Amino acid sequence: MNLFDKFQPLADARRSIEQQSSDFFNIVMEEIISATEAVVNGRRMILAGSNNYLGLSFDTDCIEAACEATRQAGTGTTGSRMANGTFSGHVALEKELAEFFGCRNTIVFSTGYIANLAMLSTLVGADEVILLDADCHASIYDGCRLGSAEIIRFRHNDVNDLEKRLKRLAKRNTNVLVVVEGLYSMLGDRAPLADIAAVKRKYGAYLLVDEAHSLGILGENGRGLAEEAGVEDETDFIVGTFSKSLGAIGGFCVSNHRQLDLVRYASRPYVFTASSSPGVIASTRRALNILQTRPELRRRLWNNADMLYQKLQDLGFSLGPEPSPVVAVRQEDKEAALAIWNDLLQRGVYVNLVLPPATPDGGALLRCSMSAAHTSEQMEKICDAFASVRTA
Ligand SMILES: Cc1ncc(COP(=O)(O)O)c(C=O)c1O
Repeated sequence: MNLFDKFQPLADARRSIEQQSSDFFNIVMEEIISATEAVVNGRRMILAGSNNYLGLSFDTDCIEAACEATRQAGTGTTGSRMANGTFSGHVALEKELAEFFGCRNTIVFSTGYIANLAMLSTLVGADEVILLDADCHASIYDGCRLGSAEIIRFRHNDVNDLEKRLKRLAKRNTNVLVVVEGLYSMLGDRAPLADIAAVKRKYGAYLLVDEAHSLGILGENGRGLAEEAGVEDETDFIVGTFSKSLGAIGGFCVSNHRQLDLVRYASRPYVFTASSSPGVIASTRRALNILQTRPELRRRLWNNADMLYQKLQDLGFSLGPEPSPVVAVRQEDKEAALAIWNDLLQRGVYVNLVLPPATPDGGALLRCSMSAAHTSEQMEKICDAFASVRTA
């Protein structure tokens, strides 16, 4: 009996996928040409699955800010936020995020994954309850596992199911945190947040919204679904990431609860990891400023998103429930999905292939994510490639 024997089912699955496509496990971005193009495994490719919603990873001001901060403060902080790893940039970014969201408090974490680990494992303790949407991201599930709260799932976007469970829990007189995402990462659908906020208010629960895929995308000012749905005052905690619309890496939580700051001292994922490097913090600050001052990026993103959704719908593909910058093409059968993914790759278009168990309903997904940086020529090529694989 070998330590790796338990991975045999994974090894078998990998072998069977590799027989269909040698690329799937070996995607290397060999040369990054722009926010929307790269040389991948020797081929020039349009990136239509990179979560680079506003295209800011190649913004010249963001790059300059990162270079300047690196020259001034070095390549890394070499320490945790609690020890030697809080630089003036971290403090400034926390202040700027608080101003942007109009919230009292912010904590910046090293990634969005760590933000969820930290918040969910720390905020809700033993004898308390986390009620989460069943389709929540793995980082939310992992945060729950790291903590000691009781975890109960409700059916995806089903407010009646949420209310039924809140009603039952009301008898226990305990703290309940409801956790949802703004835009769901796999199918690009919104949470019914106004209704969720209404039931959480009715039962005196708390609400945390992960706006990873909605920051910079939804709301008049780009603050996310809570802004769009008009429930920012009722949203106790907003978690987000810098790794998508802001084109960098890192995570945060903002809240009007005065005591949010205490999470810093109680949270192992905050205390026991190094803080983000000065360059990352500087580019994120610049990107946050661009998000606020260039609303045309959001408009361009939505034009591209709407166009792709419409085009793929016209071609007869089965898509996620509503147009959004995440355009998910559903495939019942894993082999068919892999064949289409491979075909798109040969035609110079990279999208994410998502296989079960990472998909919400056990099917496979060709997950596209649109960018404000996609040109009309690139959009046409993406649409043409899908049209060709449809008829192939
Ligand atoms: C909903 C959601 N939350 C959190 C994360 C984690 O973000 P990060 O990439 O910053 O770790 C992701 C990343 O895909 C996500 O989709």
